[in-house]
Amino acid sequence: MTVFLSISPSLCPMLGLLLLLSGCWSLQQWVLQRVPVVLPQQIKPGPAPHFLSQARLDVSSSCDPDCHRKAPKPSYWDLRNILSYETLHSNGSLTTTSVEIYGYNPNSDTTVVYKARSRGKREAHVRRKRQIFGHDGRFSIVGQNYLLQFPFSVVVKLSTGCSGTLVGNRHVLTAAHCVHDGKNYVKGAQRLRVGFLKPKYRDTQSTNFFLNLTNQIGSPYPPPTNDKMKFQWIRARRTHVPKGWIKANANDIGMDYDYALLELKKLHKRHHMKLGVSPPAQRLPGRRVHFSGFDNDRPGDLVYRFCLAGEETPDLLYQHCDAQPGASGSGVYARMWDPLRCKWERKIIGVFSGHQWVERQGASQDYNVAVRITPLKYAQICYWIKGNFVDCREG
Ligand SMILES: *[C@@H]1O[C@H](CO)[C@@H](O)[C@H](O)[C@H]1NC(C)=O
Ligand SMILES: *[C@@H]1O[C@H](CO)[C@@H](O)[C@H](O)[C@H]1NC(C)=O
Repeated sequence: MTVFLSISPSLCPMLGLLLLLSGCWSLQQWVLQRVPVVLPQQIKPGPAPHFLSQARLDVSSSCDPDCHRKAPKPSYWDLRNILSYETLHSNGSLTTTSVEIYGYNPNSDTTVVYKARSRGKREAHVRRKRQIFGHDGRFSIVGQNYLLQFPFSVVVKLSTGCSGTLVGNRHVLTAAHCVHDGKNYVKGAQRLRVGFLKPKYRDTQSTNFFLNLTNQIGSPYPPPTNDKMKFQWIRARRTHVPKGWIKANANDIGMDYDYALLELKKLHKRHHMKLGVSPPAQRLPGRRVHFSGFDNDRPGDLVYRFCLAGEETPDLLYQHCDAQPGASGSGVYARMWDPLRCKWERKIIGVFSGHQWVERQGASQDYNVAVRITPLKYAQICYWIKGNFVDCREG
């Protein structure tokens, strides 16, 4: 006799409860929390922006994780300045928007901070660039089926060389340093475009020619894979950058605000990934974070990686995920159980900022650093996407 067990959607909450009671999921599920409101106030025309800098792909800091943790917490008034923002419009004009913050409880923003085991002294003294930590654990995603499917389909390339993630039907989340170096806008920001990987129509003639050629010369190499995909570009209509990044001060507080949101001129037709408030690392299943982007050293490839979340401050997540410049701006996501919808769900919980040297106990150490989405940042980015705060009360 065969027994068919079917789980109807209405049973899902019960099943979830059972799993919860059995202790399986209690630490690994998305927990929605009330977030503050970051409400735009006054929009003023800004000075004409200068497009001077080259996009910076590496960030360095003299402030290590301890230093970031010890930095004085910004006051409510500081936060209003930090979260006010500049908007660069596609016609080259600039506006500054002040914000008001409601319902912010500084204590709800605190994170249980995890201190990683200190790394070997021997390693710490060698100042060698280690964006790849030991064995290269990155995967180039090949095959249109994968590239055009969630979650890889949400990854886009910026014309300034970074990566970004679709977080709305016309919105792309990226790193602030991909458009602004803290002092000036980068050269390419004036005509910022976003590239979507699109399948190329199969060019049978050239493929056959290639096969013929390889047969003749007996080349052992397979045809290059990246010529099967191409980018379709959409221009950005406007780009928001928080003042926290632009006013980067001596406390390295700027690092904490290395995120920007682009609004496209046209709707794209793909799925996007939701945003979530970054949970403490120990609540992530397997402490694992993931991201995909267009690393410079693998031109044309969409590169995926995952790794353990390391040390964290309320605003930053340090890890040793392998990454090269070009992956900056990628959305760092976690996959956790959604108890309401009874399924695993991926959400963006941070923005990959880049490789960073920090001085620690007299030695240089390097990390790859991601900016965490705090309740305040969630509130701000969500407002940018939805245009209202009512749809942004929980994250
Ligand atoms: C540029 O675009 C913005 C937003 O669409 C508009 O408010 C502004 O007047 C425009 N400026 C110029 C110089 O056209
Ligand atoms: C490939 O080579 C074969 C003979 O070796 C030839 O008949 C065919 O036309 C060639 N195809 C192309 C696309 O050049």
